[in-house]
Amino acid sequence: MKKTFLVMGLMLCLMHDVYSQAIDKDERMAWWREARFGMFIHWGVYAVPAGTHNGQRINRIGEWIMNRGKIPVAEYRAYAKQFNPVKYDADAWVRMAKDAGMKYIVITSKHHDGFALFDSKVTTWDMVDATPYGKDLIKPLAEACRKHGMKLGLYYSHAQDWVNPGGAAARKKTTEGWANPDSTRIDAYTETHSGHWDPAQTTRSMEQYINDIAVPQVKEILTQYGDIAVLWWDTPTGMTDAFAEKFQALLPLQPRMITNDRLKRPDFPGDFKTPEQRIPDLSELDGKDWETCMTMNGTWGYKSYDDKWKTTETLIRNLLDIASKGGNYLLNIGPKADGEFPAESIERLKAIGVWMKVNGEAVYGTQASPLAPLSWGRCTRKDKNGNTTLYLSVFEWPKDGKLIVPGLRNQVNSAALLASGKKLQTGIDNDQLVITLPPNAVDPIATVIRLDVKGIIEKVQAPQVKKEMQAGEVH
Ligand code: GLC
Repeated sequence: MKKTFLVMGLMLCLMHDVYSQAIDKDERMAWWREARFGMFIHWGVYAVPAGTHNGQRINRIGEWIMNRGKIPVAEYRAYAKQFNPVKYDADAWVRMAKDAGMKYIVITSKHHDGFALFDSKVTTWDMVDATPYGKDLIKPLAEACRKHGMKLGLYYSHAQDWVNPGGAAARKKTTEGWANPDSTRIDAYTETHSGHWDPAQTTRSMEQYINDIAVPQVKEILTQYGDIAVLWWDTPTGMTDAFAEKFQALLPLQPRMITNDRLKRPDFPGDFKTPEQRIPDLSELDGKDWETCMTMNGTWGYKSYDDKWKTTETLIRNLLDIASKGGNYLLNIGPKADGEFPAESIERLKAIGVWMKVNGEAVYGTQASPLAPLSWGRCTRKDKNGNTTLYLSVFEWPKDGKLIVPGLRNQVNSAALLASGKKLQTGIDNDQLVITLPPNAVDPIATVIRLDVKGIIEKVQAPQVKKEMQAGEVH
């Protein structure tokens, strides 16, 4: 008995030691807070059926096709035999992200269908063993990221797994963890699921699945590819504290890594929150770091017929809206089974890149706006040497050429168009700061005015949290 206590005590000390060596959160988060903009990639076997199974279009998000269509395990496995991404060019992917102004990539190393894009030794349900391509897809991406100075994050579906037996399958509609209860988007959250649909899925317990598949695989992804910047858990269906602790214990393998809030609620909050498919209201923000993940069309995983593409204008304005509230934007691409990005995505990435090249300064390393919500656009800020710079992104160009900046009391040092450096006149009218603009917007999507003022603009008080900003449990 005594001995057991001694051993346990020793283990606790050791664990404490490991954790106390962990790098301070602010230090780990620094690059991410600077970055503001990243690329999400959902890629897997589901890109083969691309939304259609046995001639039938399966509705909702593409990467859920196996669950939505209740496709038997053996039948779904057969799709891997057609997963042969001969056009995959990791270097080109990273360059596209970089040219769009993105600073990090998070890719699905394993989604809910359990398929590992990497070489996994604990299952044959992976890229190397189950496909004609036969090569690890994460490895070249990690190399390209390193080459181009892009941070690499890995998404891992730790609880749900519909092919490796014992993995969870989201069961039922609950009100906990709604991403966006009142949205009209294609809603991944309003469906009721009945759990497993094939006896092959339950031939072992979830505990065995955690021990034999998920924990070893997380160890693999944290040790096989060099530095991993983000570990992005998803859907804590069926998770227990004991399971979560097993995953948590692996984090010191990447001491600088940050993690999201989806490991298990509420005791494993990770480093940042993950509102999904939505941009939170100011009233929901509680001072914690957050990242909105969002699709460019209506699906994460590729669907050949999904055409609900957002315009470039919407995407750029979303990024500015998010930055103005102090968050990050993780914008999704669903590559095709041949390894190419959809043309519509490429087109949008390019257009965003054109805008970012001129205006990126208004996004990177900025903080939330100190101003009250603006009718004409969004604002971000940077403080330096005791002064503040405001970046005013104008969406609606004022017809009378007068841009009012309400509530600003600081003395103006200078105002200029960010694109050209052209100085703009400022004055006070009716006790309000007015900037005189040229007759036409430089960019109809968002023209940025850089406003340098004297002194630090007082920060707005962090608003109280109204509802929990969470996502990821229910489908
Ligand atoms: C959800 C879905 C999933 C998608 C993710 C992105 O949790 O289950 O398909 O990967 O959201 O945030």
